[in-house]
Amino acid sequence: MQIEPLHKDFGACIRGVTLSGMTDPETLILVRQAIDEYSLLCFPDQDMSDEKQLAFTKLLGTPEAEHVLYGSTGEVSYFGTVGNVKDDGSLQDQTNARYQSGNQLWHSDSSFRETPSFVSILHAHEVPAVGGETEFVSMRSGYQRLSQDEQQRLASMHVIHDYVFSRSAVAPVNPNHAASLPPVMHPMVRTNPGNGHNNYYIGSHARSIVGMSGVESRELLDQLLQHTTESAHIIRHAWAAGQTVIWDNRCLLHRGAGYDAARWRRRMRQTRVVGNEKGVIHTIPV
Ligand SMILES: [Fe+2]
Repeated sequence: MQIEPLHKDFGACIRGVTLSGMTDPETLILVRQAIDEYSLLCFPDQDMSDEKQLAFTKLLGTPEAEHVLYGSTGEVSYFGTVGNVKDDGSLQDQTNARYQSGNQLWHSDSSFRETPSFVSILHAHEVPAVGGETEFVSMRSGYQRLSQDEQQRLASMHVIHDYVFSRSAVAPVNPNHAASLPPVMHPMVRTNPGNGHNNYYIGSHARSIVGMSGVESRELLDQLLQHTTESAHIIRHAWAAGQTVIWDNRCLLHRGAGYDAARWRRRMRQTRVVGNEKGVIHTIPV
């Protein structure tokens, strides 16, 4: 297993590991440690199918049911498709393209869930020759770049994450789907249990901070986001077919860069692993 760091803050490219059909417990432990340490792992040249991806996902924990399908219809699927290609190989309609434009905002996958994601696993089957990169930033690095006073100020805060708040700005949310995802409250500061590193936990689903006015909340959330996403601290990941990328949603934000969906095909399959930390369903005072 060869680990090549991608940036001084976080991220690594890992070679010499085959994720599908992994049976060696020691390699799995190394992968888990690398997630804790680097937050973003890219494994090039992986032979991956949906079946193999789901089996690998289960090695890291409980797969997360894809929320759009589940919330809208009650059907459970562990896969999300990123891109513009449907299962039958044809191109998707504009409605879905509009929904996916929400992925171009900085976010942590499933921060709006009562139990947010641990990691996302995204495998690239077909990628555009131009565009379609994914950008990543580390909220751990951002936290470490704050003064002690600023860190202390965040320590007791709680943040409301709300899917309907963030996605309604981009596209209408199906009413059943909306009802399945009430606002939740998470601590502003999270600690990685493996190495004790802290990070704040924000992103596009973060609606407000408990006990602060809407304007104050917005100012602080925007300031933290700006601080996190300064250009020197971004990893802009260019995809190649065959890559499997794992990222730690507990401490990273990401966003998709646009591409010309009328010109290029893009098909990527995503699974996620359920995290260990549970938030609190937030009842809005009336
Ligand atoms: Fe995402």
